[in-house]
Amino acid sequence: MKLLWAVSALLLCCWRANASTDPNIVAEPPEVSNQTAARLTCNLTDSNLVIKGSHWKHNGKIIEDSKSTDSNPVIVLNLEKITYSSGGKYDCVFETDPVVLQTIEVKTLPHVAAYKHSEHGNEKDKGVMACVSHGYPLPTDWTWYKEQDGTQTPIINGTGDKYEIKSTPNKTTLIIDDLSIENDIGDYICFGSNELGTSSDRIHLRVRSRLAALWPFLGIVAEVIILVTIILIYEKRRKPDEVNDDDDSGSAPLKSNSTTNHKDKNVRQRNSN
Ligand SMILES: *[C@@H]1O[C@H](CO)[C@@H](O)[C@H](O)[C@H]1NC(C)=O
Ligand SMILES: *[C@@H]1O[C@H](CO)[C@@H](O)[C@H](O)[C@H]1NC(C)=O
Ligand SMILES: *[C@@H]1O[C@H](CO)[C@@H](O)[C@H](O)[C@H]1NC(C)=O
Repeated sequence: MKLLWAVSALLLCCWRANASTDPNIVAEPPEVSNQTAARLTCNLTDSNLVIKGSHWKHNGKIIEDSKSTDSNPVIVLNLEKITYSSGGKYDCVFETDPVVLQTIEVKTLPHVAAYKHSEHGNEKDKGVMACVSHGYPLPTDWTWYKEQDGTQTPIINGTGDKYEIKSTPNKTTLIIDDLSIENDIGDYICFGSNELGTSSDRIHLRVRSRLAALWPFLGIVAEVIILVTIILIYEKRRKPDEVNDDDDSGSAPLKSNSTTNHKDKNVRQRNSN
């Protein structure tokens, strides 16, 4: 019994000793949610570690301006204007041996943006629209709506083999099969939601008829036909002149003279070199 007491007293003493040297960082606030500005503070307490410096990290990247070489156990980072791009994980890092750090999460509404605000597809083909998201946290839910005459109707993944939705936290893609001019032209809206709320963006889809898709091709065909016709007419008008040239007996020796002159010139040039 005495032994048991001794062991537990020993354990208690060591646990307490351990606790008193265990570094603890008090972060204030512990988390930032949907704020336009914030003042992040870390207080390194209960530590006898030597602080050689400190810095802050944003999503794993050191914030250069926050680097310090003093041994202050309290460090502050001011976020003056929080947007989706300043959201994420902030670490306050104390350069001790070993290094100690604490993470403060800065959360914002998701930022949702259409990959392209205007998309087009050909009749009977597939239409593909995409939205991407940035910020922290990324959307946990994505939904698509079609807007027609001011009313929004949800698009259900897989209905009638017509719609397919593929989503990851960063991106959602809506694929519409067998595009039709009557039914599929219009505005499509993607909604991305995280724990703080929902953001959306809008894409306008145009559908061209198959014939319209052929127009550029027909244009090229017409161009080729016109070009060929012009060349043929030109050739026909030139031909009688060429025949006259060949019949002219005086021109043949003249031509050969001129070529020999050229040859002489070349030889002379080579000699002078
Ligand atoms: C940091 O923590 C210590 C110990 O808990 C406390 O005395 C001190 O007031 C704190 N400083 C700040 C700025 O919160
Ligand atoms: C939609 O359905 C397809 C096929 O059934 C599936 O692969 C995909 O993960 C679904 N998308 C969503 C967002 O549930
Ligand atoms: C998607 O988000 C994760 C987590 O934020 C990020 O690491 C990854 O690079 C992103 N992927 C793309 C394709 O943007």
